[in-house]
Amino acid sequence: MGSAGEYRFFDLTHSSADMHEEVIAGLTHAPKFIAPKYFYDERGSALFEAITRQPEYYLTRIEMGLFEDCLPEVRNLVGEGGCLVEYGSGSSRKIRRLLEMLRPIAHLPLDISRRHLERTAKKLHEDYPQLCVYPVCVDITEAFELPDVVAGQRKLGFFPGSSIGNMEPEHIPSFLRQAAKALGAGGRFLIGVDRKKNVEVLEAAYNDSAGLTAEFNLNILSHLNARLSADFDPGAFRHLAAYNRCAGSVQMHLESLADQSLHIDGHEIQLHRGEAIHTENSYKYDYAEFVALAERGGFRVESSWSDDDAYFTIFLLRAP
Ligand code: AVJ
Repeated sequence: MGSAGEYRFFDLTHSSADMHEEVIAGLTHAPKFIAPKYFYDERGSALFEAITRQPEYYLTRIEMGLFEDCLPEVRNLVGEGGCLVEYGSGSSRKIRRLLEMLRPIAHLPLDISRRHLERTAKKLHEDYPQLCVYPVCVDITEAFELPDVVAGQRKLGFFPGSSIGNMEPEHIPSFLRQAAKALGAGGRFLIGVDRKKNVEVLEAAYNDSAGLTAEFNLNILSHLNARLSADFDPGAFRHLAAYNRCAGSVQMHLESLADQSLHIDGHEIQLHRGEAIHTENSYKYDYAEFVALAERGGFRVESSWSDDDAYFTIFLLRAP
């Protein structure tokens, strides 16, 4: 570990050629898809932040309440010091509470969006001058290793907001095994998980009346236009979000409003009127379902906190 208050940025991302290939592969696949990590350019991150304040989007509100309940117990179990490893650097509301409660030596925010990551990490570095801040630009859904500076330090992983809901359930055990390795023996992982519930409640959360989720969904196209010089017309698509009971996920799509062709990096892509591009799965879990995934991932549940309606659960997992 470096000296107190050190700031170092680590970039573990691939070349933009890989991004082109990945996006084109998704858009030439049947059915077409764009990975949800592409939501989060600057505007997408700001839109998501605004979604979390919508009355229909219960997830963040309930998780924040549970979070206050779990902090004292987490502090008793984890103690002060060590490193905090934040999977996907969101708004800093929750992380600031954790930093103040746990007083870690180092904080490692991991995020795919470089500018968002850099901005939030620099701000934390300014506000907590004693804290080492080591932002890592990385796609957390892929295999990676934490920087050597924090080798041998006790670690707490933090993956709030039900962001784990974006992963396919069958990928969760291997993701958790990776995390268990990164967090080390006895490492803990605090994870927010959205629960299965009434369909109306689920669908309202992804169809807010202010239209922010629609804007957020459509913004993925503007992001690809800017990053890959594509020529999507966001006005030629509409937002769709519905709960698929069989899959156990809210699925978001962008439906083409016309027959159209678009261009991306020399490739022409045809879309029929009514054809949909899949942009996101947001999986919901019963309590026991998530416990089973955690155990398959090599963790055991040390503690958990749920609201009275069982809308949301924060799990504290521990690696052996
Ligand atoms: C950040 C993945 C948790 O699935 O609820 C919000 C993203 N998508 N509204 C979610 C999202 C549409 C969000 N996660």
